[in-house]
Amino acid sequence: MSKVLVTSALPYANGPIHLGHIAGAYLPADLYTRYQRLQGRQVIHIGGTDEHGVAITIRADLEGKHPREIVDYYYGEIKRAFDALRIDFDNFSRTSLPLHHKQAQAFFLRLYEKGHVYRKDTEQLYCPKCRRFLPDRYVVGTCPYCGYEQARGDQCEKCGRWLEPVQLVNPRCALCGSTPELRSTFHYFFKLSAFNEPLRRWLESKEHWKPNVRRLALEWIREGLRDRAITRDLEWGVPVPLPEAEGKVLYVWFDAPIGYISSTIEWAQKQGRPDLWKEYWLDPDTKLVHFIGKDNIVFHALIWPAMLMAHGDYILPTDIPANEFLNLMGDKFSTSRNYAVWVHDLTRRFPVDMIRFGIARILPEKKDADFDPRTFQTMVNTELVNNYGNFVNRTLSFVERYLGGKAPRVGSDPDPEVRRTLEEAHREVTEYLETYEFRKALMRILALSDVANAYFDRGEPWRTRKTDPAAAQRTLAHCLWYVKALSILMAPFTPESSEQIWRHLGLDRPGWKDGLDPTLPEGLQIQGVRPPFRKIQDRETEELILEIRSRAQQAGISAPQEPEKTEEKPMETVKFEEFKRLDIRVGTIRAAEPVPGADRLLKLQVDLGEGDLRTLVAGIKTAYAPEELVGRQIVVLANLEPRKIRGIVSQGMLLAAVEDGTPVLLRPDRPVKEGTPVS
Ligand code: MF3
Ligand code: ZN
Repeated sequence: MSKVLVTSALPYANGPIHLGHIAGAYLPADLYTRYQRLQGRQVIHIGGTDEHGVAITIRADLEGKHPREIVDYYYGEIKRAFDALRIDFDNFSRTSLPLHHKQAQAFFLRLYEKGHVYRKDTEQLYCPKCRRFLPDRYVVGTCPYCGYEQARGDQCEKCGRWLEPVQLVNPRCALCGSTPELRSTFHYFFKLSAFNEPLRRWLESKEHWKPNVRRLALEWIREGLRDRAITRDLEWGVPVPLPEAEGKVLYVWFDAPIGYISSTIEWAQKQGRPDLWKEYWLDPDTKLVHFIGKDNIVFHALIWPAMLMAHGDYILPTDIPANEFLNLMGDKFSTSRNYAVWVHDLTRRFPVDMIRFGIARILPEKKDADFDPRTFQTMVNTELVNNYGNFVNRTLSFVERYLGGKAPRVGSDPDPEVRRTLEEAHREVTEYLETYEFRKALMRILALSDVANAYFDRGEPWRTRKTDPAAAQRTLAHCLWYVKALSILMAPFTPESSEQIWRHLGLDRPGWKDGLDPTLPEGLQIQGVRPPFRKIQDRETEELILEIRSRAQQAGISAPQEPEKTEEKPMETVKFEEFKRLDIRVGTIRAAEPVPGADRLLKLQVDLGEGDLRTLVAGIKTAYAPEELVGRQIVVLANLEPRKIRGIVSQGMLLAAVEDGTPVLLRPDRPVKEGTPVS
């Protein structure tokens, strides 16, 4: 059976985890692992904290503490944050453990002995004022590639390139700001240049990779890789295991990825089967998937694979699904400036599933995304609560209330339409998950839930339970099937509610494909039903916005834009003749697509019957996905004066209930002919 080894970037133990981290690597990694586990595959999620390097020592310098204190404290904080969000690791290790030091040293020696690492005299920046060498982030300056003026000595945040302090134009000491001077020393260099061609060939074969990752890596290859120093003059880190290298440690980006291996070894030891890790790292059948944020691409797509090639024993990454960045109300998250929404803060405010849903819904998979509490509220309230949650709740409570809790069965002739709908959704969701398109998978599940709601509506069980009880039973049996299928598809995203639903349905750890089968346990009684989710109150959103605003202010970021306030006006009466002038009709949406550059707008093609096809621009994007709208009937004000919105002429207006700022579309109680007037 194929094995899957999932890793997520080892976060520096120099600060707590914020939503940006979660959206970049950890939630996707957890979603993927949960999905693979539901598929019944042999999968482990490996992680830990990155506890070396200048990110840690600078923090320690700032707080006047020993690096040890810093990493001990944040290891605990970080682990608790992941636990609280139900981001589960099979092992969550630390690179400061002796086990890891031993692994990293052995890795280094292997490369040294094979001639991939050599010693060389070199020049290094030294700050005369601070009287110390300035490795990596201890220097800032201008990036020689892209001209960014705040580039750090180890990496340019703007273009993502891996740098060395001496490459910076106009370097400055990060501690005191003075201009450093060059001093000679020696270091150990990794012959990266020798891997230019092997890496190119390897990357070119990775046609299925996300284009952002592959393109970037190949671009750097074209510029030509140079040999790089992989040791540093620092006190904190993995000591270089050579007698003549007193006082030198391994460069953090050399030791950290080896942490994936060490953590797997630690996991195997804890399982009481110390050789188990080899089944993953030494078996070419293992699928090795590294989840990372885009700032880690150079290390995972170039340096680390080159290290693995040089070493020779281990498998290479199969996939590196790097995400773009998540911003916070229009500005970058920043741990150092304390401009962030911390996980521990959010889990105090909202249930776990709600947070996971809200982030999964906006994952920055193809481009940067933005976290805004208002959008979060809208999406949670309309999609999670009103659509999916409501469907589950209305189905289960109907059975409890009107069928005495006795779950009706689908029987021997399931509705072929329902089966087809479920199979299609299942296939598409699976495809999206296999290709790391988690956001799309979630949208597809929501579209399915919308269909399920419409199925309930069309069945009108509240009516048929009196007029035709058999029909009501049949409707509910199929609705329960939908609930079962939906709760399994949703399980990676919202594990807690799925577990709750499974308890109601008497399901014990169902498998991924079980949703395609309507069977429920014999004699199932449904009782004690409660809504799986609650709504986010306006007050909660406002509080969170205030919090973010005050952080922005302290961080010197201009305040994020004010939420629009609506002016209250007294209601006036209208004459019936005036009302009659409004041409309100039912239409069917034939096409829907986002309006480029607009957060809230969708462009719709609405069929008003007899060839009257209208273009409508509507502010419903935060509440509805384009694909779930096609085929749906809506109510349209057809004779509203045409208006140009973002360069598109909108020929009418759709009608919606607006609940807490969230549009909820109206639709006729049953499908009607396009163009049917509303009066
Ligand atoms: N600590 C690094 C960061 O936060 C990520 C290290 S990933 C590993 O950017 F591969 F090196 F482990
Ligand atoms: Zn740059």
